[in-house]
Amino acid sequence: MTRRLEVADLVVRHKTRKGTVHAVAGVSFEIGAGQTLGLVGESGCGKSSLARAIVGLNKPTSGNLAINGTAVDPRRPSSRARDMQMIFQDPYGSLNPRLTVRELVEEPLKVHRLRSRAERREWVKALLDRVGIPETMHDRLPHQLSGGQRQRVGIARALALEPKIIICDEPVSALDVSVQAQVLNLLVDLQREQDLSYLFISHDLEVIRYVSHWIAVMYLGVIVEIGPVDRIWKSPLHPYTRALMQTTDNREMQAGPEVKLNSELPNPLSPPSGCRFRTRCPLAIERCAQEEPQLREEAAGHKVACHRAQEWASRVSAAA
Ligand SMILES: Nc1ncnc2c1ncn2[C@@H]1O[C@H](COP(=O)(O)OP(=O)(O)OP(=O)(O)O)[C@@H](O)[C@H]1O
Ligand code: SF4
Ligand SMILES: [Mg+2]
Repeated sequence: MTRRLEVADLVVRHKTRKGTVHAVAGVSFEIGAGQTLGLVGESGCGKSSLARAIVGLNKPTSGNLAINGTAVDPRRPSSRARDMQMIFQDPYGSLNPRLTVRELVEEPLKVHRLRSRAERREWVKALLDRVGIPETMHDRLPHQLSGGQRQRVGIARALALEPKIIICDEPVSALDVSVQAQVLNLLVDLQREQDLSYLFISHDLEVIRYVSHWIAVMYLGVIVEIGPVDRIWKSPLHPYTRALMQTTDNREMQAGPEVKLNSELPNPLSPPSGCRFRTRCPLAIERCAQEEPQLREEAAGHKVACHRAQEWASRVSAAA
């Protein structure tokens, strides 16, 4: 499998009046060609900070990025615009309200001085056609479209430069449930047609399961579990992942410890020592306060950051 995107030890800090938030505290993963990595976690865990640093909308504090095996400078966004684009949750906020649909999709091509005027016109028409925006709407402004249509325009705009990697930050969360499925199916079809790689962010595990080949679970700036979609769905090993699963109607999850999230997310300005999840983890032991668990491979491609993961891992394999 070709490695399309590699992210290594990415750190993003935000300075606020109250102190520094370590929104992303050393995250590493890779995404293969034509694959989707779904990223899930509670509000405020750092998903958007990570996404924005990868595409270059935020400057990461440190870390490395590679696209198609070639290192790119994570602090120079222009170096990767043609390879990587982003789709946002809120197309109202991300689309310039004064540009027509046609102009919005053409804009990236103009910025990068690509194609002749006639070719641009033809390409924009083909893109809009592909995402299901009829020609009668090409001269409309964003506020004259429905939420679903606006997101389709956002997708056409993201595809204009023919990138191979698309970072989707909650692309369907603002849409009605019936429209969500249509937009998700469009993204899945486009992936198959164009061999696209997606980092797909959502707080909705069912949505993540539907679109992803791999799932990464993030908690307070770190990835606590990552693995193939079926492994994470059926045999989650991290107590936090198990807690998230228990909020879905996942009936396939294998027996293991019950974990309920009974308290609030700790203050991100001063995360707990050792394991960041320990203040909410019913399974915490003394070691958890002292030593930060590192991601360890428990099965092929399935990595978990928990001092006790092996206890559940052996139960899961005994039950399998
Ligand atoms: N520009 C910023 N300045 C200061 N703090 C920020 C900034 N952006 C994010 N943060 C803080 O960084 C942490 C991570 O936020 P982020 O938006 O990345 O989380 P998220 O997982 O995308 O949340 P949500 O699911 O609500 O979108 C939070 O504590 C947030 O308050
Ligand atoms: S390392 Fe300890 S506190 Fe953290 S998830 Fe595992 S058992 Fe819970
Ligand atoms: Mg976000």
